[in-house]
Parts: sequence; structure tokens; C-alpha cells
Amino acid sequence: MNLEGFSLLESPAVHTVCEGGWGLPLKQVISNERIVVLQAQLGEWDNLNHLLVCLKTKQAAVVDPFDGNYWHEVCANNGWNLTEIWLTHSHWDHTKGVKTLKSMLGGSVTVRSHAFERQRGWKEPVDEEWTHEANSNIRLNLGELTFEAHCTPGHTPGHTTFVGEGVIISGDCLFLGRCGRTDLFGGDPALQRETLRYLRGVMQQLPPAHIVLPGHQYALENGETPTTMHLETVLATNEALLAVDDDHLWASLPFLAFDDSMAEKARRQRAKSE
Ligand SMILES: [Fe+2]
Repeated sequence: MNLEGFSLLESPAVHTVCEGGWGLPLKQVISNERIVVLQAQLGEWDNLNHLLVCLKTKQAAVVDPFDGNYWHEVCANNGWNLTEIWLTHSHWDHTKGVKTLKSMLGGSVTVRSHAFERQRGWKEPVDEEWTHEANSNIRLNLGELTFEAHCTPGHTPGHTTFVGEGVIISGDCLFLGRCGRTDLFGGDPALQRETLRYLRGVMQQLPPAHIVLPGHQYALENGETPTTMHLETVLATNEALLAVDDDHLWASLPFLAFDDSMAEKARRQRAKSE
């Protein structure tokens, strides 16, 4: 396994950071001379938020902030400038902290998400909307770091997966052992299947030691509950990725749709929009 240039640490190592009062402690996923990647579990739905930092320019991007004050404090304590907010998708648990950060940072921070998220009726303001097609990508810069924003619909119409600098931030598209549900308003199981085929192709071209960072910590088949995983393990074991080429296996996946209040709400929204 090629781990050169990356270190995967289990304990927090950045300067003093508030704990936020939620979930797991702040985790330093990657730290080298070029980049710091942090992960924190925040909010009632245990969202995994991620911070990317270009150490050369001290610019930082937060992906899916739940708690704006928390990430503002992390950046302030470390002398980083939070200049970017990137959204994997527009569900409330991935966007709740945006308003707070915008009110604190104003025009010095740019909020980006995909325009297709408007298809699910999302109306919150965004500074820059991507418009690239499903299952394609555009380049994203953060200081001297380079990422790709891949449009990966299925969980939502404009779900975006961020790839680069040793990480894959997969939001609610791809979890470590499975994939996101497709039965919420704007979700589409056929698109999710196409997306997973596309994303598998993208990921197969990456070094196996890249680290997958999902939007939630769900238990694996064996009961373990990691929040990070090397790409080679995800490619070899993820139930959804292993099912995409087989109609029967795909149809039998138990996590694409659920019988719960959110599914009921989505049914009402679909009926209203038709
Ligand atoms: Fe979601």
C-alpha cells in the first residue's frame, strides 16, 4: 500500500479547538507539508463535516458545515482563512452551518453547490452554482491545492463528490459500506446506479491509499463503524459498488429506500409536483 505523503491519524493534532458538544472529537485525517484534512461529526444526525486546508496559502474550505461557529473557531485558532464552502448536496443536515458562516464572513467566503439541487425545490442563496452535466467534473482550486467536483446525482439531483489531494469526499452518495438512499424527493435509483458506475471508474484510476470520507458514519456489515477508509478497501467491499453490475443484487439492496416518515414526505412532494 502506498502511503507516501499521507498520514492517517486517529487523534486530534491541530491547535486548540472547541469540541462543539457533538459526536466524535475532531479527527486529523491527513497532515503533511502541503495539506491538512480534518473531520468532525456534528449535529443531531451525526453528520461528518470536513475541512481542507492549503498550508501554503492558509486558505480553507469546509465541506457540508453543520455548525458554523465550530468551523469558524477551528480556522481562527489555527490562523486559517475560511474562503470556501462546498456543498455535496442541499439536505438540511449538510447545509445548516452555511448561514452562520456567511453572516460572520460575508463576501470573503464563497458558497458553491450544483445548480441541479434547485430541482428539489431548494431555495437558499449560493454564490457560485456549478452547471456541469451529471457524471462529469470540473476543477476546483483551493490556494495551491486542486480538486475535482464530480456531479454524482441519485441521492439528490445535483449531489457532488469532491476528489483530489488524497481524499474522496463522498457526502451521501457513497458511504463506506453502502450508498445513500434514493427515495427522498429528488432522488433517483437509476441515476444512483449510473453514478456509482461512473464513480467506481473515477476511483479505480486513483491511488489505492486515497481516503474516502463519507457524509455519515454507518455501521459496516461486520459491525465496525469507521469514519474513514482507504479507497482500495471501499472498492473491494462496498455493498453498493459490488451490486451495480448485477440487476438482481442491485434490486435487493436494502438501503436504497426505507419505509419511514421521510419517504412518506417524499411521496407527498412528488404527488404535489406532478
Ligand atoms: Fe442527504
